Parts: sequence; C-alpha cells; structure tokens
Amino acid sequence: MPFWAPDIGIDLGTENVSLYVRGRGIVISEPALVVLDRENRHSVQAVGDEASFLLGRSPERLTPVWPIRNGQVADYDIAELMLKYFIRKAIGVSYLGKPRAIVSVPCNLDDVNRKALTEAIRFAGAKHVFMIEKPFAAAIGTGLPVYDPIGNLVIDIGAGTTDVAVMSLGGLVVSQSIQVGGNKFDEALVEYLRRECSILIGKQTAENIKKDLATALPLDEPRSILVRGINQLNTSAGTVSFSSEQAYNAVKGPCAAIVKVLRWVLERTPPELAADIMRGGIHLTGDGARLFALDRYISENVGIPVLLAKDPGDCCILGIGYLTENIQLVTPRSRKSSRPAYQ
Ligand SMILES: Nc1ncnc2c1ncn2[C@@H]1O[C@H](COP(=O)(O)OP(=O)(O)OP(=O)(O)O)[C@@H](O)[C@H]1O
Ligand SMILES: [Mg+2]
Repeated sequence: MPFWAPDIGIDLGTENVSLYVRGRGIVISEPALVVLDRENRHSVQAVGDEASFLLGRSPERLTPVWPIRNGQVADYDIAELMLKYFIRKAIGVSYLGKPRAIVSVPCNLDDVNRKALTEAIRFAGAKHVFMIEKPFAAAIGTGLPVYDPIGNLVIDIGAGTTDVAVMSLGGLVVSQSIQVGGNKFDEALVEYLRRECSILIGKQTAENIKKDLATALPLDEPRSILVRGINQLNTSAGTVSFSSEQAYNAVKGPCAAIVKVLRWVLERTPPELAADIMRGGIHLTGDGARLFALDRYISENVGIPVLLAKDPGDCCILGIGYLTENIQLVTPRSRKSSRPAYQ
C-alpha cells in the first residue's frame, strides 16, 4: 500500500453516490441513504446499499435519511457521516496523508452551500476539496471535447436537479440549474393519481410507474397498468387502471420546466457556439433523462437533435474519474461561468 492516500472523485447525487479512486476506477455506487434508529437519531444503523437492504426488512424500527437534497447538503451531520463511511470503504484508513477529493456540484450552488459541502467532505477525511459542475463532468464522461474551441451542450437530469450548461475551452460559458429531476416526476405522478383517480400511492410506486409507463410524448399505441394504493374516499386498499395518456399528462409540467431552462440557456449562448450545438446536438445525461421519449420531446421543442448518452447515470462519475486521473486540470481552475438570474 502506498504511503499517501490516492486522490478520489465523488459524484454526490441526491439519490446515488459514486466514488472513483485514482488508479483503480469506480469502486462505489450506492444509494445516498443513511438509516438511523427511530428512537435514537445518533445511532446509525447502516449506510448506502446496506441501508436500503435494512429498510426493506425492518422499516418500523428505522428512520431513513437522504442527507443530500437537490444536490445540496440538507442534513450536515448525516452527510458527513455518510461521506466518511464511503471514503473509508473506498480507500481504507491506514494512510498517513489524507486524499484530495473532486466532487460534483449543481451549477449555481451558492457560496454558503459550497462552504457547507467543503466542510462536510473535509471532516469526512479529505485534505483538499475541488468542486466540478455536474454537466461539465458528465460532458467529459460522455466523451465530448470540452477542452476544444467548440460549443458543447449537456443537460444532466438527476433525481433532484437538472443542470444545463454550454461548455467550451474547458469552461462553462452559460449554465443554469433547476430543482427539477426524477423526484419531481415521481411527485407529479403521486399528485395526479390523488387528484384525478382518488388513489394515494407512495414514492416507490410512483417511481415504478415512471419507469414502466410514464412518457414525455403520447404513445402511438397507448397502454395501461393496474396501480394499487389507498382509496382516498374510503381509506381502504384500492386498484385503478392508469393509462400512458394519464401518465403523460401527469409528467407534462416537469418536462416543460426542463425545456424552459434549456431555452433560457440557448438564448444566452453566443451565436458561434450555438451553431456548433446545432451541428453536434444536445447531450442528455443522468438517469432521470431515461424518462421515455424525453429526448424526442426536447428535440421537437427546440429544433435541435438530442442524444441520450449510453449509461447516462454513469457519465458524471466517469468524467470525475478522468479529472481525478488528471488532477492538474482542476488545480487551479480558470473556468468562468455566467450567472444571470433565472426566472
Ligand atoms: N428508466 C428510467 N426512467 C425514468 N427515470 C429513471 C429511470 N431510471 C432511473 N430513473 C430516475 O433517475 C433518477 C436518479 O438519477 P441519478 O442517479 O442520475 O440522480 P442523482 O445523481 O442521484 O441526483 P442529482 O444529480 O439530481 O443530485 C431517479 O429519480 C430515478 O427514478
Ligand atoms: Mg447526478
């Protein structure tokens, strides 16, 4: 074992955390979940994969905590604990020096949240923390030439945020982040079923419907599934037939919000870079981008080809991995990002 700890990369998602260790590759890909004892918040029962396993077996004793919300640290103590667990699991503890860490962040993370995240990662065991915007990392991960003098546009759709960025010459030219992602699609389905079908469903059921039936464009051959939940009228178990047309109507709002932020970015993109994007297309990354027909929906709305990355959920950690292997690219950074207010 070498004397000094190897550099690490962390894709700190709202739903999933991945860690990359320099020279070894991706070593951890687990839910960003901690379960605590219901009676005693200071007693951590499990983290990551073990936490989701435990939660599936004895949920009544446990309180689940997702310490990252919308790409930001929502529960500082638990985030620190979770990161410490993952860092130890990735590289162990028997080094004299601490590792340098590169971590993914949403595009418009403010200074207060940057500081909170830096502190959490330092307390969790890192020496220096370098932040990298998610779409920049995802662009590298999907193989885009972000260091060349051409325009590249990536939309990274995760569970908590959608980040849109135009990049060129190794920097962000225009970028924006909104708190819309896979979780908002789930919430939209829960709300639609409550309002239109008087059925109450949980997040897990909504997520299953999203993956199985939801679509950003109406289907040529509509289909239906049976959804089980609690009937709101008589609070007993109930089942309703739910169609792809209804699922389409349910997720319309979050899909439109993604196009709106994309238009906002395109309107602020310099014409030469916009011409490159028209030619090269818009690249979709993040697992939230796997919503059926979302690529076609975006393309039809803005008139630019849209390409869904291969393994979209891995793009960000692959890009962070590249930067971890080439850490001189992030130390020091000379990247500029324009941040006009988004309405
Ligand atoms: N086939 C699918 N169709 C639609 N959504 C999907 C599919 N597979 C996964 N998802 C959604 O992708 C989201 C998780 O994506 P990802 O792992 O990229 O998010 P994250 O990195 O944890 O979050 P963020 O980057 O927003 O902080 C979840 O909402 C999940 O339900
Ligand atoms: Mg992500």
